[in-house]
Amino acid sequence: MKITIAKNEKEFDQMAAWRIITQMLVKPEAVIGLSTGQTTMNMHRIVSEIYQTNPFPTSLVKIFNVDELTNLPRTYSGSCYAMIKSQLCDNLNIPEDNFIMPPTFSEDFEQECKEFETAIAMAGGADLQMLGIGWNGHIGINQPGTPFDSTTWVSPMDPIFEAKVRKETNVDENYSLGGLTLGIKNIMHTRKIVLIAKGKHKAEIIKKAVLGPITTDIPASVLQLHPNCEVLLDADAASML
Ligand code: GLP
Repeated sequence: MKITIAKNEKEFDQMAAWRIITQMLVKPEAVIGLSTGQTTMNMHRIVSEIYQTNPFPTSLVKIFNVDELTNLPRTYSGSCYAMIKSQLCDNLNIPEDNFIMPPTFSEDFEQECKEFETAIAMAGGADLQMLGIGWNGHIGINQPGTPFDSTTWVSPMDPIFEAKVRKETNVDENYSLGGLTLGIKNIMHTRKIVLIAKGKHKAEIIKKAVLGPITTDIPASVLQLHPNCEVLLDADAASML
């Protein structure tokens, strides 16, 4: 793992944004995986701002998000589809056809998982995954205990995670939530992974994921085995390394 430490949050956001832009410049037809959440909002905003002032080619790039919530309307502001669309795809004029996402409602999620994987593979496979990390080391919605050979699946909601999502998205209590996520095996097949974390609250889990044993108890620890993984942190998230 290559570890990069930004001196503060602002520098982190800018460095993270440039990881995405550089990938698009180096390979205009790149397939790029994103993550939603607090970590990536500024990153998406900065990419959008740079595009507004200095447009770069985006018509061939393919975007997907590592995970998606199920059983809430796709148009709902808390769906990953809606977040990535409004935070990035619309601002960069990325054609709808180049935004690869599973649906949020389906009669057959097993089939949707297969189709999501196939769509990424048909596009050439993921070149870059900007990957967030949860407080317990989860990546995507692969919670502790998920086997490292897991492929795309609908993960049961961890109660703390569900509370976080409900708080952040105001999802109606009547919707039962699930999380469709690329599996750990799929994530590991990405050509380049940038694990991103900022803030003191991520320092302990970053220490475990980067320096601790490789264990399914800390899903992100598997990234130690990836041949091309950068861990991009701000000074706070790196403070226990
Ligand atoms: C959720 C998402 C992940 C994200 C993680 C970190 O679990 N499913 O994709 O990376 O949260 O979120 P945050 O950046 O808000 O800490």
